[in-house]
Formats: sequence, structure tokens, C-alpha cells
Amino acid sequence: MGNAAVTVRNLWAKYVGSGDWVLRGVNLEVREGEMLVLMGPSGCGKSTLLKVLAGLLPWVIPGTVEGEVLVAGVDVLRYGYKGLAGKVGVVYQNPEVQVVTRSVFEELAMAPENLGLPKEEVRARVESVAKALGLEDYLFKDPQSLSGGEKQLVAIASVLTMRPRVLLLDEPTSMLDHLGTRLVLDLITQLKREYGLTIVAAEHRVEWAVEVADRVAVMSDGAVVLEGSPSEVFSKVEEVQKYGVRPPGVSEVAYNLVRMGFPIRIPVRLSEMEEVLGGG
Ligand SMILES: Nc1ncnc2c1ncn2[C@@H]1O[C@H](COP(=O)(O)OP(=O)(O)OP(=O)(O)O)[C@@H](O)[C@H]1O
Ligand SMILES: [Mg+2]
Repeated sequence: MGNAAVTVRNLWAKYVGSGDWVLRGVNLEVREGEMLVLMGPSGCGKSTLLKVLAGLLPWVIPGTVEGEVLVAGVDVLRYGYKGLAGKVGVVYQNPEVQVVTRSVFEELAMAPENLGLPKEEVRARVESVAKALGLEDYLFKDPQSLSGGEKQLVAIASVLTMRPRVLLLDEPTSMLDHLGTRLVLDLITQLKREYGLTIVAAEHRVEWAVEVADRVAVMSDGAVVLEGSPSEVFSKVEEVQKYGVRPPGVSEVAYNLVRMGFPIRIPVRLSEMEEVLGGG
């Protein structure tokens, strides 16, 4: 613990079709075992940053990228996605593109098989991830027959069986209901604790981010403009709103109380509100 798992220095990126630069000097560091959540309005560059970290832009998606990017010790701009194989797992916004095999079991077994693990170990990993995500009854179903939310769970599961050092998630629970989201967040938290998994996730739902993030980075117009623990970032209610991000409801309420003259600290989680009000 403690070493940087992801380092981004002065990163500039654009697509062949985007004309102007989309990322404009991003600086970021994520330590091993830490979860960083990227937030910011639509179009600010969250998915683009994840595509660079995953070695896809400019390797698979044509574009220009300048700067320095280290992920799990790999110089990504030099080695691309191939250099990250077995070390970095990616879950995209749209699970359709990711599901490729004929059964959920095969889908979950693919990554550990590609790593050359023995059959028993592959099976054990598939079963434990399937159990954690409530997918046991789906193992012999055709992934194409599943709903969008179920496919998203399968896509997440199939990356977790690889046991990556770094996990890149682009709005991983956008198609999931409350229970599905809960299962994914609990499993991520568990893997972080047990394996020191490092996670970078783009996410719109602020309550979700506040619950699981060690740090939050707010992006605006292709750069990181605010960064810190959820409490540090979201207690700056006005500034966060200025960048087009909605702070947690509880922070907004407390901020309004402060403006009315109540000298309270601004909480970011509902569980902190009682303490804040009680303690004055
Ligand atoms: N393949 C592409 N070709 C050209 N421009 C693109 C491409 N993908 C994204 N862009 C542009 O890059 C900018 C950043 O897009 P990006 O998808 O990174 O934003 P985002 O923060 O993930 O937004 P959202 O919250 O809607 O997912 C946008 O202006 C978008 O139009
Ligand atoms: Mg996006």
C-alpha cells in the first residue's frame, strides 16, 4: 500500500474526429488500494480519460495523446492495452460490446483461462464472483438472453475473475437497480480490502460516489479542477455546483443552513447529519 498505482501527468488527448483537445492537461495520482471517483458534467472527458488509462486511445480508437501515463507500473502511452493485459480490468458504459461468449460461465472463465490458471482455480474464481454478485443461477444461460442490467453485472464479474490490480469502471451501475448496485459496491469494497485493488470509476450518482470513494476528482472541460476526499470536495458546495456537479442532498441542505446563519459543518453523508446538528 502507499505506492502510486495510477499516475497521470500533463495529459492531453483528442480524437481524430474531435478537432480540439478533449483532455487539456490532466494531472492525477491514485495510490494502491485506493478508489478514485471521477465526476463532472457530460462531455467533460471522464470516459476519454478512462480510455487513455485503458490503453485504448490512441491504440484502438484513433487520436493523439501527449503526456505521461503510468498504470500498474506500465507506461501506457508506450505499450498500450497489450501492456496492461492481466493487470488492468475495464468495464465500459455499454455492456453489449463486452459480452462475447455463449454462456455466462464461459464469459467469467475467459480471463483466468487466458492467464493460464489451472481449471480448478478458474472454476473457484468463477463460482466465488458469481456467488457474490447473485449470478449463480445464470451461469449456464446465454449472455445475449439477459437484460441490460444483467449483462452489466456479467461484464463486471468477468473482469473481477481476472483479479486485476487496477479496475477502470465507466458508470458501471448505470443499468442496475438498487440491489444490483448494492451487490457491485459491496464486492468492490471487499476486493479493495482483501486484495488492495485500485479503482478508478466515472460516476454520476453522487450518493454512490460519496459512499465508496476514498477520493473524488471533479473534471471540467478536460481537466481536474477539484480533488480530495468526498468530505473535502463536497463541503465546497458552491464550487462543486459551479462545475456542474450536484453535491449530495444532505450537503446542499446544510449549506443552506449555513447561509441562514447556522454555524454548522457541512456533512456529505446522511449518517453525519445527526452528529452535525447535535454538536452544533
Ligand atoms: N470517438 C469520439 N470521436 C470524437 N469525439 C469524441 C469521441 N468520443 C467522445 N468525444 C468527445 O469528447 C468529449 C468528451 O467526451 P467524454 O465521453 O469523455 O465525456 P464524459 O465526461 O464521459 O461524458 P458523459 O458524462 O456523458 O459520459 C465530448 O465533447 C465528446 O463529444
Ligand atoms: Mg462518459
